Amino acid sequence: MIILGIESSCDDTSVSVLKDGKILSVAVNTQLEHIAFGGVIPEIASRAHLKNFPAVLDRALSDAGACLKDIEAVGVTFGPGLVGPLLVGVNFAKGLAFSLKIPVVPVNHIEAHICANFIDHPGIEYPFIVLVVSGGHTEIIYVPEQGKYELCGKTRDDAAGECIDKVSKMLGLGFPGGKILDELAGQGDENFESFPRGMQNSSDFSFSGLKTSLKYYIEKHDKEFIQNNINSIAASFLDSVTASLVTKLFTAAEKYNCRTVLLAGGVSANSMLRSKISGTAAKKGVKFYYPSPKYCTDNAAMVAMTAHLKIKKYGIDKFRFDSALDAAPFVNLSE
Ligand code: KG4
Ligand code: ZN
Repeated sequence: MIILGIESSCDDTSVSVLKDGKILSVAVNTQLEHIAFGGVIPEIASRAHLKNFPAVLDRALSDAGACLKDIEAVGVTFGPGLVGPLLVGVNFAKGLAFSLKIPVVPVNHIEAHICANFIDHPGIEYPFIVLVVSGGHTEIIYVPEQGKYELCGKTRDDAAGECIDKVSKMLGLGFPGGKILDELAGQGDENFESFPRGMQNSSDFSFSGLKTSLKYYIEKHDKEFIQNNINSIAASFLDSVTASLVTKLFTAAEKYNCRTVLLAGGVSANSMLRSKISGTAAKKGVKFYYPSPKYCTDNAAMVAMTAHLKIKKYGIDKFRFDSALDAAPFVNLSE
């Protein structure tokens, strides 16, 4: 079966083609309009999605060697995310599905990040614990079987990616900051400074204290000092962010007696996070999976994969062209 995936929950316009569980193509247009503002402006994002979708769809189809009439179902992100951008994607999907007389499969964005792991590792066994870390989410979730999710811990304030992006902005490094800080940290010393690690005795996270501590640190030191030590400041900051993520992931794995852990979401592309988890997993004899970098940040391949898994579980007849309107029975992830 050929499934078209559509993603527009934030600032990435993306379309993907999947055939029988394998990704044939994924086209992503990351909107550059927001760089000047240092953050995503929802109204600008909605209009950019509207403008970008036709070309992104054409690219995904031609890269896959497919045409519209080959598509048998459309998977689309219905939330969580920015309301305007989501509306553009859902209506684009519904328009296509209505004209092609095929069903729409509504996909939860967090579930899609988790399912991105199945693109390269279709044999991952349940149960597992997954750490979802993105610009909007920081959650640890227990997954006993496909489509069942139990929240073990979440951030009480900023998401990890949000904290990373804001600190990058304070350091004058640009937006989004994750990739930039990751590269700088690779050449720095994480023991250079000791920044706080929030909520150490809880299964929840807090990153706002760390963000404030960086703000005072930057104010206290002159520009030249920051500039000269930027690699080690980045490494020390990411050491704090990743320390609490890793500790709580393995605490949850122990609590639920899980021998498999997964990473998901944009921040899962982070080198320090991956290497810390892989080191601890090897010591504990726990299996560790993470998506390849192009499937970590927002993309439609993860949406197409989730739609594929849902169709396999529920059957195609459960979905109609307008099933995005009554998505709730098919997803039990907290929004
Ligand atoms: O999943 P995503 O594309 O969008 C949301 O659903 O939020 O995640 C975007 C986040 C941004 O905060 C970005 O800075 C972060 O992922 N990110 C990274 C890296 N690549 C992207 N953070 C740390 N290291 C990276 N290599
Ligand atoms: Zn995302």
